[in-house]
Order: sequence, then structure tokens, then C-alpha cells
Amino acid sequence: MSRWNSSTVFVPSPVAAGGASAGGAPSSSVPTKHPAANSASTSPATRTHRVVTSCLYPRVATHMRTPRGVYAVAVDEQGVVLRPATADDLWLFERQAVDPEAGGTFNWSGFRDIRATRRRLDDNGLITPDGGCLMVTHGGAVVGTVTWTKVWYGIPIWWCWNIGISLLPDHRGRGIGTLAQQQLVAYLLGTSPAQRVEAYTDVENVAEQRALERAGFTREGVLRATQFRDGRWRDLIIYAVVR
Ligand SMILES: CC(C)(COP(=O)(O)OP(=O)(O)OC[C@H]1O[C@@H](n2cnc3c(N)ncnc32)[C@H](O)[C@@H]1OP(=O)(O)O)[C@@H](O)C(=O)NCCC(=O)NCCS
Repeated sequence: MSRWNSSTVFVPSPVAAGGASAGGAPSSSVPTKHPAANSASTSPATRTHRVVTSCLYPRVATHMRTPRGVYAVAVDEQGVVLRPATADDLWLFERQAVDPEAGGTFNWSGFRDIRATRRRLDDNGLITPDGGCLMVTHGGAVVGTVTWTKVWYGIPIWWCWNIGISLLPDHRGRGIGTLAQQQLVAYLLGTSPAQRVEAYTDVENVAEQRALERAGFTREGVLRATQFRDGRWRDLIIYAVVR
């Protein structure tokens, strides 16, 4: 069992009630802090949520509370687990490299050379100090990948993480994307001093916008003409969680 199998779950503290409205309606005052950021802080402003790392496994997740509300999630008893890639997972990277639907059309930028992925898996297990990739599993089955990359805003110490996700078509729309991205944020804020975890997505990718919002991300703005796909330049929406 990998060390990430002790699922990181977000449990609202009693004082969270004011920040999250039951029924899923977004709160009018949206906190800019992510639940995962609060574990190391004692200031009242950041004590709206706490992170509990549970060794109880399997678990049943039926609802998830985020700064924006309470949502129903459809995961089975073993839940969503992130773990490092192994050679047995190469089939998924092979599919993503040649099949636009496997990785999602919003992630498709043309065919990729799978040999480069094989080499990187062999060299470093797809995890380096500047970024990485973990498998998203659901009930033990591989259903997709999450990635993170270091990005810089000026000098070297002004860096943060930018994350990405791709689930196989059969596993979308069940809450897995929300939980996987929430777990990735907790992992990154828990294992690195990053102040910020960001993610961008196409203005037309409603599923990812909703998943990011449900995972606790705040929409920050639009980046115009940033990705070339399907014959034209596309606008992205940038989201972030800050510690
Ligand atoms: C984007 C993605 C990660 C979202 O994860 P997911 O598990 O499918 O999403 P969730 O089940 O957590 O649902 C999130 C929300 O999106 C909505 N949603 C899901 N699929 C949708 C779709 N095709 N169109 C519109 N909304 C959709 C859900 O209803 C939910 O909204 P709600 O809060 O109003 O109920 C996943 O669909 C995916 O991997 N897509 C292909 C790759 C991709 O686009 N990656 C992101 C690139 S930036």
C-alpha cells in the first residue's frame, strides 16, 4: 500500500458552518483559503476547515464540504486514491498519447511519443522536484492521471504549482475529478512550501471549472489566446488555491 493510500479527507470543523452553505449554493463571501492550507495555521481567519489524514480504509464518501458548499459525490467504498505510476500503468499513457478522447479533447495537442514517457517512468517514476504525475485510482482501478508542474512568476523563489487532470471517459461526471484534485492540492501543500496551487482550463470546459470550484479553487481571471487547439487560439480561465 502506498503512503497515499491513507486517504486525505477534508473534514469541516465546527466553525466551518458559516463558510459553507448546505445544499451546495455558493457562499456569498467565498474564502480564498483552501482547506488544506489551514492545517498549519492557528489564525481564526484560516480555521474554517481542518484536514484529517485518515488511516481508515476503505471509506465511504457520500458528501464533500468545500468552502463553496456541500456536494454529493458518487464514489464507492474504496474511494479515490492517488498513487505513483508503475510500468503496469503504461497502457493508460499509451491511450492518452494517441486517442483524444482518452485524455479529453481539452487536453489534446496532437499525437505524442510514448517512448518519452516510458523513459521518464524508468528514470524517475514520473516524479521530479519540478513536477510529477500520479495515477488516479477508484476502487483500485486506474481511472486517470493528475499532474503538477512548477511555474515561476519572476525570480526563482516566486514559484508555485500548476496542476492538470485527465480521467478516462467512463469515469467522468461522478465526483472523481473533484476529489482527485482536492487530494492533489492537499498532497502538494503538505509536502512542499508552495504558497499557491493553480490550474487553468478552457473557457468552454465547464466540467473542469465546476470540479475546480468544488475542490476549493477560486476563479481569478481569463488568460486570452493562450492555447492553440483544433485550429484556433483558445482562452483559458485561471483558478488557484492559496495557502
Ligand atoms: C474535467 C474532469 C477532470 C472533471 O472531473 P469529473 O469527475 O468528470 O467531474 P465531477 O464529477 O467532479 O463534476 C464536476 C462538475 O462538473 C459537471 N460536469 C461533469 N461533466 C460535465 C460535462 N460534460 N458538461 C458540463 N458539466 C459537467 C458535474 O455535473 C459537476 O457539476 P455540479 O457541481 O454542478 O454537479 C473530467 O471530466 C475529465 O477528466 N475530463 C477530460 C479531461 C479534462 O478536460 N481535463 C481538464 C483539462 S484542463
